[in-house]
Amino acid sequence: MLVEFRSDWDDATLQALSLIHQEVLPYQGWDFPSLKSTLETGGTYIRFACIGSTPTGFILYRDSIDCLELLTIAVAQNYQRQKIGRHLIEFMLNAYAEKPCLLEVAADNIAAQHLYHVLGFIHINTRKAYYFRGHKPASDALIFKRPPISQEPVA
Ligand SMILES: CC(C)(COP(=O)(O)OP(=O)(O)OC[C@H]1O[C@@H](n2cnc3c(N)ncnc32)[C@H](O)[C@@H]1OP(=O)(O)O)[C@@H](O)C(=O)NCCC(=O)NCCS
Repeated sequence: MLVEFRSDWDDATLQALSLIHQEVLPYQGWDFPSLKSTLETGGTYIRFACIGSTPTGFILYRDSIDCLELLTIAVAQNYQRQKIGRHLIEFMLNAYAEKPCLLEVAADNIAAQHLYHVLGFIHINTRKAYYFRGHKPASDALIFKRPPISQEPVA
């Protein structure tokens, strides 16, 4: 399976990626207008994975003044656990090697927390009852931070 990673988005790609986001994040999924308007905000970028012409996952991130913000990441259910998520985050971290990276993840999202830990993120703060969960209690948001790659000791 050859996975291609690209940044040259168009509306059709964003439509497909928004469907993936809504599929894998039922309460937090972004529709096409939300995804597009966020992406059109200054300093915001997308990197997406394709198999053939089919988009299979993406990362959306923002270059803020003193840090990088991972706004969201999603990989289609059928393509998870094939290192697509890892590759997308590593691309972003390497592209901004001088900056620390911040993100928020739901306390009940164990899969994403595993991935972030593997890639060197640590939990630094919590926002209580932040994510809507329908009839269940809201989930806390965990704030994770990763130091800049450039500050890591050379092996
Ligand atoms: C989180 C997500 C992006 C991970 O993408 P992925 O391409 O499946 O992840 P990878 O294959 O790159 O995983 C790399 C490592 O992360 C960890 N990991 C990923 N998914 C995991 C899971 N379901 N359970 C435990 N660990 C997991 C593992 O250490 C994995 O390495 P391994 O497969 O060798 O054990 C994907 O599960 C997803 O789209 N989830 C729904 C959306 C979401 O939660 N986004 C984050 C919002 S903050």
